[in-house]
Amino acid sequence: MTANEIREAYKKFFESKGHLIVPSAPMVIKDDPTLMFTNAGMNQFKDIILGNTEPKCRRQTDSQKCLRVSGKHNDLEEVGHDTYHHTMFEMLGNWSFGDYFKEEAITWAYEFLVDVLKINPEHLYVTVFEGSKEEGLERDSEAAAIWGRFFPESHIINGNKHDNFWEMGDTGPCGPCSEIHIDSRTPEERAAVPGAELVNKDNPQVIEIWNLVFMQYNRKADGSLEPLPHKVIDTGMGFERLVRVMQDKHSNYDTDVFQPIIKKIGELSGYTYGEKEETDVAMRVVADHLRAIAFSIADGQLPSNAKAGYVIRRILRRAVRYAYTFLGQREAFLYRLLPTLVEEMGGAYPELPAQQTLIGRVMKEEEESFLRTLSTGISLLEGVIEQTVKAGSDTVDGEKAFTLFDTYGFPLDLTQLICSEKGLKVDEAGFNAEMQKQKERARNAAAVETDDWVVLAEGETQFVGWDALEAESRILRYRRVQQKKLTYYELVLDSTPFYAEMGGQVGDLRREAREQSAHTSHQETAR
Ligand code: ALA
Repeated sequence: MTANEIREAYKKFFESKGHLIVPSAPMVIKDDPTLMFTNAGMNQFKDIILGNTEPKCRRQTDSQKCLRVSGKHNDLEEVGHDTYHHTMFEMLGNWSFGDYFKEEAITWAYEFLVDVLKINPEHLYVTVFEGSKEEGLERDSEAAAIWGRFFPESHIINGNKHDNFWEMGDTGPCGPCSEIHIDSRTPEERAAVPGAELVNKDNPQVIEIWNLVFMQYNRKADGSLEPLPHKVIDTGMGFERLVRVMQDKHSNYDTDVFQPIIKKIGELSGYTYGEKEETDVAMRVVADHLRAIAFSIADGQLPSNAKAGYVIRRILRRAVRYAYTFLGQREAFLYRLLPTLVEEMGGAYPELPAQQTLIGRVMKEEEESFLRTLSTGISLLEGVIEQTVKAGSDTVDGEKAFTLFDTYGFPLDLTQLICSEKGLKVDEAGFNAEMQKQKERARNAAAVETDDWVVLAEGETQFVGWDALEAESRILRYRRVQQKKLTYYELVLDSTPFYAEMGGQVGDLRREAREQSAHTSHQETAR
């Protein structure tokens, strides 16, 4: 099956189980101070899960674009070096909002993998939450018993709070979970060491593919767990990993999700994938980051110097410097891969072809400006090298290497590479110490603490801005947000003339409805 067919098969399967297929939410989040990017399929349903809004259907399914590059879920440094972590990835998910629970979630997961996709169950392992004294929670024996109908005990493994209690962030919906892992090793390797011993042990051939979360709690800002109004099923399957299993590959990058892009990189750079580890890593980094950058721009996040924009800028720069150092690219290069990406993913994600021109232009400009910085960095480094040699040392100062990195985006491995060409080393410990200091500064600057909402009255916000620029209103709910030394409050009002930056169409609809009825009554009067 092709990647596109696998995505469709998943959605169709859950549609046949009464689920509504919904589109992916944008990958960039604008209205939740606790998150910059969508990091899981459930993010867009947070308010439904917490009971603040009603779902349009109690069963929903989708394929969600996710980005795990900051905060609680961050895989950036692994990307390229291993074969199964990504910055941007797709998460296949199915949800029950107060409808079915563990029984159906587990049964259907098994049915989809084993009966529909024909994956050999002997290669699957499942984990269940072993309980936590600290949280006052029991082992999830119910999930273990349901799994027991499909798997022998040797394939059902207890997992601790770290692996088997899923939380969206420091606060928000959470609950015990059951993960499904697959053992893709050779028969000889399987005979030597049972797969059960390698689950959650970072073996690149024994990996998690699907997580079924049995959401029952809301983690409050004070750390306590409050029961959710309804029990919720939230599942997430790593699409690229599933495709790899189905296409019988040992690396996500060998599937048709990535191969067309990798081939194009090879064509443009003259390198062949699979020949040398160093260039392979660079090709994987470029292929992965291309997707993250293109989809972020399509979803409205341009690279910039602050917050989410800065994260995107850094991802782009990481890709540029890998291409520069290991693939010999001295000119803008990533944007030339965009047509291939659009061809592969534009069908499933129409926002990509719709924004193609803008994405290409932004990428090219960003690449060119960073390449200029890189060449400034190179001249500066040449000066530093000269001073080091003159001083009779064979080691470039770590602080200077860090300044090059921090101010000119000049990465350590590039500095090391150029220095080694002159027979010099770089004081890595000194560099790391400076990096640590900078990380702490960044963490303090970015930390946002959000208290729980204090609800004063139930109700919805009425948008009155079509008729008035001022309005008297009441506070429905409020919460305190703390960032750095700043404390501010977010207020939800019962009526407001402020036009919503997101979701403004709700106000627009009301206006249309009102104009429609004014028009009708006018006609009636005339008649
Ligand atoms: N929300 C769950 C996860 O991201 C399914 O793993």
